[in-house]
Amino acid sequence: MSVRRLAPDEVQPASFAFTAENLAWATETMGKYPVERKASAVIPLLWRAQEQHAYWLPKAAIEYIADMLGMPYIRVFEVATFYTMFQLQPVGTKAHVQVCGTTPCMLRGAEDLIKICKSRIHHDQFHLSDDGAFSWEEVECAGACVNAPMIQVFSDTYEDLTPESFEKVLDAFARGEKPAPGPQNGRYGAEPAGGALTLHDLPFNAASPDGAAAADKPAAKKTPAKKAAPKTSAADQPSVKE
Ligand code: FES
Repeated sequence: MSVRRLAPDEVQPASFAFTAENLAWATETMGKYPVERKASAVIPLLWRAQEQHAYWLPKAAIEYIADMLGMPYIRVFEVATFYTMFQLQPVGTKAHVQVCGTTPCMLRGAEDLIKICKSRIHHDQFHLSDDGAFSWEEVECAGACVNAPMIQVFSDTYEDLTPESFEKVLDAFARGEKPAPGPQNGRYGAEPAGGALTLHDLPFNAASPDGAAAADKPAAKKTPAKKAAPKTSAADQPSVKE
C-alpha cells in the first residue's frame, strides 16, 4: 500500500481548466445524472482531467472539478487519493508503468517485471527516469488475473508478459510508439493459448464442422412431435360391476 499525497507545491500549476472540448464533454456527462446527483460524475471528470494534464492530477484540477460538481474539496480529494488509477505526482511522459503485484501475477512472474522497472526506469517507484520519459509503480490486482502477469500504461493493459515481451513493450514506448495492448503472447483475450478447446460442436463456433456459415443460419424451428395415443388393453379397462 502506497502513501498517496499531492505533488509538492513547486510542481503544482497555478490553475487548471478544461479545454473547450473537454468542458463540453464534462457538461454532457454531468447531464446523465439527476441535478441533485451530479457528484456521481466525479470519477469520469477526474479521469478526463488527468488525461488532459499529462496523466497526473494537480491540486488545481481536483478543486476545479469539486467546484464544477458543487462538492466540498475534501470529498474530491478523498476520491483522488483513494484510487490508484489517479496519479498525484508527475509521471513519465511516454509511459507510467503500473505493475500488478497481487498473488496471481506474482506467481506468474511479476517480480521479474519489477526488476526490469528498477533497472530500466528507476530503483524506486514514483520516480521519473533520468530522461523523464518513464515512471513505474506496483499496484494491486487490476482485474486481468487470467492474463497474468500484466501491466497497465495509462488507459491500456499489456498482458501475458514475459521479461522479453515486457522489454519489447518498453522499447516501443521509448521510440514514441504505442504498442498494441492486450495479450503479448498471441492468444486472443483469455482463450487457451492455441485457440478454443471446447464448444467446437456448437453452431455459433466457427471452428465447428458446419463452419462460420452455420452461425449465419437462423436456427430452424422445431415442431413438437405429435403425441401418440396411449395404447389400451383389456387389462387397462375399468372392470364393470354387475
Ligand atoms: S492479480 Fe494481477 S491482474 Fe489480478
